[in-house]
Amino acid sequence: MPSEVSMEKIVSLCKRRGFVFPSSEIYGGLGSFWDYGSLGVELKRNIKNMWWKAIVQERDDVVGIDTSIMMHPQVWRASGHVDTFADPLVECKSCHLRWRADEIAPPSPDLSHQGRGITMEVSPAEREERGACPECGGELTEPRMFNLMFKTSVGPVEEEASTVYLRPETAQGIFVNFENVVTTSRKKLPLGIAQIGKSFRNEITPGNFIFRTREFEHMELEYFVKPGSDETWFEYWVKERLAWYLKLGVGKENLRLRQHGKDELAHYAKDCYDIDYLFPMGWSELEGIANRGNYDLGQHAKHSGRDLSYYDAEIDERYVPYVIEPSAGVDRAFLAFLIDAYHEEVVEKETRVVLRLHPLLAPTKVAVLPLSRNEKLRPLAKEIYQQLCPKFVTCYDDSQSIGRRYRRQDETGTPFCITIDFDSLEDHQVTIRERDSLAQIRVPIEELEKIIEAKLKGESFDTTPLWAARQK
Ligand code: GAP
Repeated sequence: MPSEVSMEKIVSLCKRRGFVFPSSEIYGGLGSFWDYGSLGVELKRNIKNMWWKAIVQERDDVVGIDTSIMMHPQVWRASGHVDTFADPLVECKSCHLRWRADEIAPPSPDLSHQGRGITMEVSPAEREERGACPECGGELTEPRMFNLMFKTSVGPVEEEASTVYLRPETAQGIFVNFENVVTTSRKKLPLGIAQIGKSFRNEITPGNFIFRTREFEHMELEYFVKPGSDETWFEYWVKERLAWYLKLGVGKENLRLRQHGKDELAHYAKDCYDIDYLFPMGWSELEGIANRGNYDLGQHAKHSGRDLSYYDAEIDERYVPYVIEPSAGVDRAFLAFLIDAYHEEVVEKETRVVLRLHPLLAPTKVAVLPLSRNEKLRPLAKEIYQQLCPKFVTCYDDSQSIGRRYRRQDETGTPFCITIDFDSLEDHQVTIRERDSLAQIRVPIEELEKIIEAKLKGESFDTTPLWAARQK
């Protein structure tokens, strides 16, 4: 993480440039819910598309699925979430603020790593430490377990029998469809089922902007394997997922792997690694990769009465597959990509804020900028804009000076600006300015599409470097 990045700067940039807004802002917002603006939605979609491409499209051992947010309540009993998906909550007797007991005592430098579903044994010494509210110093209540699942009811009558939960993970939608997918995909193990979708958790202490929220998007893969091969596949997926972030430009020095201690594992996990990112508040979980063993299929088989074992024709044997689960948060990845891309640098005595996002993640790929608002430039500039729009997310901007427009595009991570000047009307050439190198090259208009496409793929091409002197 570049040293100058603070969460305040990221939040301010997100608000100012239309990446992220507080939800229901005109009514004062709603705690830890956020809306994504016009640039935010593009970045978020690009993250999801890159994940889907790597996990589903480019592999023949993974298929996708899209399951409902609300599921039969038995699903959450079988999965263990009704009983154990809870955090220990304490309340201040004076100011009534609520805290996660495990986050305020005993003090821990890496709070965000705390696992879920751990039974809290509270020693008298710890209770002493827990005695004070971090906000006002008031006395705290005894901890009680607080289930993080949101409840609602299905149908017009609100009664116990109609209670359902908003899913806290997309994974269970995959497990309960395991049989359907194996039958219809006609694929053999190892087989992965991938899903992207919303999850909901009534977090006690959400915060750090979009790092921990009550509504977020999951990108989850459940990769089913033969028991005994699980450890090899576990290692494989840890490496694979780390490589994904690196390939999309996250600095190696800002990523680390951290294995969970035995006391920290979630109720379903046999082993787990976190991919941590160095966020402004310190190293915190970006993605978790768990070896869930055969816990989930076993539990659903028991609770539903269905045989969820798999017939392996190669060894003529039935078994309940083990599952490796890389589980990432879209919003948390969004935050990490933004923080990693954020740079401030001095160019010609002015501070330039630049988001060095990977071009494939950048919300806008191309900005079409006529040198001025002169009427003569407008038709050609508009024609180029129309030509590029169907191919790339393109914006058109002719307000203010060209220098200020470049800065605006730098700040939102647009990798290429195309400038149309008076020479363009004569020689049918325009200038491409690159966000990172600030290099400017002159290219024929009819080649633009091809050149930008090649540049987005990271391919080199032959053009004539030009006018360093003209660069503003
Ligand atoms: N199915 C496994 C599972 O949900 P998790 O570690 O609880 O595991 C996986 O969540 C990822 O989902 C996290 O690494 C994080 O990126 C994201 N995530 C979890 N809770 C979140 C929250 N409250 N707000 C934003 N992202 C969250």
